[in-house]
Amino acid sequence: MKNINDYEYISLVSDILDNKDFNKLSTIEHHGTNRLDHSIKVSYYSYLAAKKLNLKYKEVARAGLLHDFFMSYEDRTSFERFISTFTHPKYALINASKLFDLNDREKNIIRTHMFPINLAVPRYLESWLVSIVDKGVAFYEFYHSYSPIFRTAINYLYFFILFSLYRAD
Ligand SMILES: [Fe+2]
Ligand SMILES: [Fe+2]
Repeated sequence: MKNINDYEYISLVSDILDNKDFNKLSTIEHHGTNRLDHSIKVSYYSYLAAKKLNLKYKEVARAGLLHDFFMSYEDRTSFERFISTFTHPKYALINASKLFDLNDREKNIIRTHMFPINLAVPRYLESWLVSIVDKGVAFYEFYHSYSPIFRTAINYLYFFILFSLYRAD
């Protein structure tokens, strides 16, 4: 994901990508990759979908990039990780607002991207879009963070479950 050659996309987010504090996300582990790479994936795929759906793709690209703009440490306890699941959209919005001018739509995209785990309901179609793309990207990253043997075992398990359901009919 590091080599995006889409110059229109880059021109919309270059100030964020060039920001020194934002680039610290590259040092933080996130779903088996790093938080910067995850954020770029969510931003770029959301941007492509927003263009197809005639939504406000600039806001989607920028807020998608900033949606997980929070710092955390490797040695967090499981409890701290759990709490962070609920609190990080608030901190991402605080951090992003300090460095960049955000409109209401961009703020809402960041603040509600964890719905329905968080109860803040998306107010714009753009917020729904980033929330859905974030979950898809996170699932893909989690899945690929496991070994090929584990993934193959999971695939066989899915197949077995589907086959059992089919036979039960
Ligand atoms: Fe998040
Ligand atoms: Fe995310």
